Amino acid sequence: MLCQSASELENLVEMAKPIAKEGKVADYIPALSKVDGELLSVSLFYPDGCSYTAGDGNLILTLQSISKVITLALALMDRGEDYVFERVGQEPTGDPFNSIAKLETINPSKPLNPMINAGALAITSMIGGKNGTERINRILHFIHELTGNCDLTYNSEVARSEFDTSHLNRALCYFMKQSSIINEDVEELMELYSKQCAIEMDCLSLAKMGCVFANNGIDPSSGRQLIPADISRICKTFMVTCGMYNASGEFAIKVGIPAKSGVSGGIMGAIPGKCGIGIFGAALDEKGNSLAGVKLLELMSRKYSLSMF
Ligand code: DON
Repeated sequence: MLCQSASELENLVEMAKPIAKEGKVADYIPALSKVDGELLSVSLFYPDGCSYTAGDGNLILTLQSISKVITLALALMDRGEDYVFERVGQEPTGDPFNSIAKLETINPSKPLNPMINAGALAITSMIGGKNGTERINRILHFIHELTGNCDLTYNSEVARSEFDTSHLNRALCYFMKQSSIINEDVEELMELYSKQCAIEMDCLSLAKMGCVFANNGIDPSSGRQLIPADISRICKTFMVTCGMYNASGEFAIKVGIPAKSGVSGGIMGAIPGKCGIGIFGAALDEKGNSLAGVKLLELMSRKYSLSMF
């Protein structure tokens, strides 16, 4: 076990926390700007059910881009690898998460990976169900299974705030509709995607989801295979190559674990064969990753030799 006590983790949180002052809470989705950027919270969850939480209590965060890993797993389970990767690529971009540039320059137009907004919107459009309600309920049901918590849902204020303001995401959708990567009504897709990004939970639930990926898709408490091992492997690989956007290379060198960030300040980590990590620290760096969260992972990686490489 990498961490021996909550107080050990508490010390690392105290060391990482001050850097949050240099970051900025996301405000392009207005409802996200209400949180205190200097709070920092972390949970570790191990396959034997043991967990440690440290920092500022049970903070609740919305998943934002962390949800992209979950919908990717579900879309691969719904449609299969060939269908998914005919429409969305497998390469990092080196561009910001919401960039439209490569959609225009790559021919035929196709988002480069499922972790950037364009790719994630295409992935969400692949989630099966007869209407928007059934589709969000399927995503929620999957998250209930991954966390073992059936009460989790989305924050309607955050979902509404994103739906009302995300004109750039609409532009990505219309671009992809032109090239038939997306075929559905853009407003319906935007509503589903905004709700998916606004699903909220605490760091412990985030760590539990990470633990399922760390454990090759198996729920450690029931032994059930919630995600086929091969799909869990694909998701973890995308977390390494694209999970921290255009900071993924530096993150791989400094931390060296599969991780996915969200613009809410959340990070989900999955240390293969070891444990899941959930972090929340809302002040972001200029690339949209939690500043204190990444710092904390760097400190943890050094102390516990977490790097896979
Ligand atoms: O689509 C968006 O812009 C947000 N709902 C999610 C983006 C995000 O979390 C990027 N992460 N760092």
